[in-house]
Amino acid sequence: MSTKPSQDRIIIFDTTLRDGEQAPGAALNIDEKLTIARQLARLGVDVIEAGFPYSSPGDFEAVQKIAETVGIEGGPIICGLARTTKQDIQAAAEALKPAARPRIHTFIATSDIHLEYKLKKTRKEVLAIAEEMVAFAKSFVDDVEFSPEDAGRSDPEFLYEVLERAIAAGATTVNIPDTVGYTTPAEFGALIRGIKENVPNIDQAIISVHGHNDLGLAVANFLEAVKNGARQLECTVNGIGERAGNAAMEELVMALHVRRQYFNPFLGRPVDSEAPLTNIDTRQIYKTSRLVSNLTGMLVQPNKAIVGANAFAHESGIHQDGVLKNRLTYEIMDAQSIGLTDNQIVLGKLSGRNAFRSRLRELGFELSEQELNKAFVRFKELADKKKEVTDWDLESIVNDEIQQTPELFRLELVQVSCGNHACPTATVTLRTPDGQELTDAATGTGPVDAVYKAINRVVNVPNQLIEFSVQSVTAGIDAIGEVTIRLRHHERIYSGHAANTDIIVASAHAYVNALNRLYAALQRQENEAVVVS
Ligand code: KIV
Ligand code: ZN
Repeated sequence: MSTKPSQDRIIIFDTTLRDGEQAPGAALNIDEKLTIARQLARLGVDVIEAGFPYSSPGDFEAVQKIAETVGIEGGPIICGLARTTKQDIQAAAEALKPAARPRIHTFIATSDIHLEYKLKKTRKEVLAIAEEMVAFAKSFVDDVEFSPEDAGRSDPEFLYEVLERAIAAGATTVNIPDTVGYTTPAEFGALIRGIKENVPNIDQAIISVHGHNDLGLAVANFLEAVKNGARQLECTVNGIGERAGNAAMEELVMALHVRRQYFNPFLGRPVDSEAPLTNIDTRQIYKTSRLVSNLTGMLVQPNKAIVGANAFAHESGIHQDGVLKNRLTYEIMDAQSIGLTDNQIVLGKLSGRNAFRSRLRELGFELSEQELNKAFVRFKELADKKKEVTDWDLESIVNDEIQQTPELFRLELVQVSCGNHACPTATVTLRTPDGQELTDAATGTGPVDAVYKAINRVVNVPNQLIEFSVQSVTAGIDAIGEVTIRLRHHERIYSGHAANTDIIVASAHAYVNALNRLYAALQRQENEAVVVS
């Protein structure tokens, strides 16, 4: 029997691994998805949408592994996406079998424009399919979510009818997607209110919302939806996703947290209730954001709300003066509430393996022996170069080491000569997937260009570098530099990430990392993934 969750708190449904991963270049391999899923569980999300099992064997396996290892008793609900077809639903049900609490999320479009041009079906046909496929999903699991895709542009009267039929057929959550990010907050709120007032059996389901950020309104739309009865929010870490992305988890959670008193009455609570509105452990937010950014290669802009590098920085003298007198003059939330601790100096050259391991544990990283050994070697190298190793340095090393890209090509040597009177020249040695060591050299417009040209001469897979960025992890001349790159090969984008105190070395590793992803994809010759918005 499914139990209906209480309506006085907000359910956080995370779709970073499904809709988020649909962002160009954000593709993750199975181990990376597992790493993120474990962190999402630590963060306290209620539901993890782990993928779209029918879309590719890789997605199927990822959902299955996440169901098995993260979807355990006491863990989050694990959800798999399925179109309203029997094959999709069967694949989702099969992949979700190991989960203690599986959910099938099935969807079909309801807007006239989608019916006419995409589905080529009448409203009557869509109604019948929705009803039949929800019932079919229900024959596998108790927990069925139904989405009328492009609800934001659908005729509300038709929407009410579809939702009523889906609930009658067994849907326990009805999700209202603003698929193209078109609605405004007032319109979206009114849409949710209309559903609450006009769908006769709506009290038998949770109302969920899903939205894209094409006009930058996704989070505002969701908050308006909460005021009008939505109790589940579908979001992604850092707001990654298709086109302009999805509603950002950290913004929603912190808005509900910081403005609890404003939202409490809409959830039937006393205004001054201190009980959290979500299950999220907000102190895990910053770490989750960094992990997702590093593994997907999707950088977080410095002025991004909550998790951007400048989100808690006060630059102007007037602000600094005010904050020193009383933080509340210019701060509405404490940096520590998202897990942004002071940049503590924790370890140095003389710190041993145990101190290293226990500090990582305190930071929430549980590494396997092999990962720990690799990370410890990196730490020692860093401690030799840098007197003070901070938490952020540790986090950067670990995130770098737990990247699960297969090391098909391995960078053995990189050497550059450059200067204001020299032609930048690079020599690289790479170990190839069949174990050969190949060396080549190239000149370029600068040292990084020369390194990339030399690497290309060895790897020999045509590609176009479309993004290159360097960020320093901490302040100071000896800071670690994190390099993130994105490259394109036949319309697909691959990202790479690496960290080192030497930014040329980091650049070379990041490039090899991206090329390894590209090479692995070519090797798999994956079946064309079915992509939905
Ligand atoms: O944006 C959308 O409509 C979706 C659905 C599958 C929920 O992602
Ligand atoms: Zn979507």
